[in-house]
Amino acid sequence: MTEIPQNIALALTRYARVLRADELRDGELIPVEIDGTPVVLVRHAGEFFAVQNNCTHRDFPLSEAGFDPRDGVLVCAWHGGCFDVRTGAAVLPPAADPVETFPVRVTDGWVEIGLTGSLTRERGAA
Ligand code: FES
Repeated sequence: MTEIPQNIALALTRYARVLRADELRDGELIPVEIDGTPVVLVRHAGEFFAVQNNCTHRDFPLSEAGFDPRDGVLVCAWHGGCFDVRTGAAVLPPAADPVETFPVRVTDGWVEIGLTGSLTRERGAA
């Protein structure tokens, strides 16, 4: 199978509107759910970032995490593992594996999350 270049794949990505951009202040996070998949939306330095809402260490919801705006990291409330919201990278143990990230855009004042990766699952699929 031929692989689609990333810039074309992103242009073809569908997006889901989740909330008005002015509903989230800088440094705040909010859990959202897209077709049953939990996601955390974070506003950091004027930009929006979306990551899976499950810590990769022990599957704790990152929507319960603290957000450290100095380093741009979510700090898991259970054991303190940290994830960079921009890349999803695990930057502090015990978290070792990255969290999935999703593209985010703002259109007409609405925050929209790109339906990529685990958000592309077919509705009704087993
Ligand atoms: S569950 Fe998040 S660091 Fe352990």
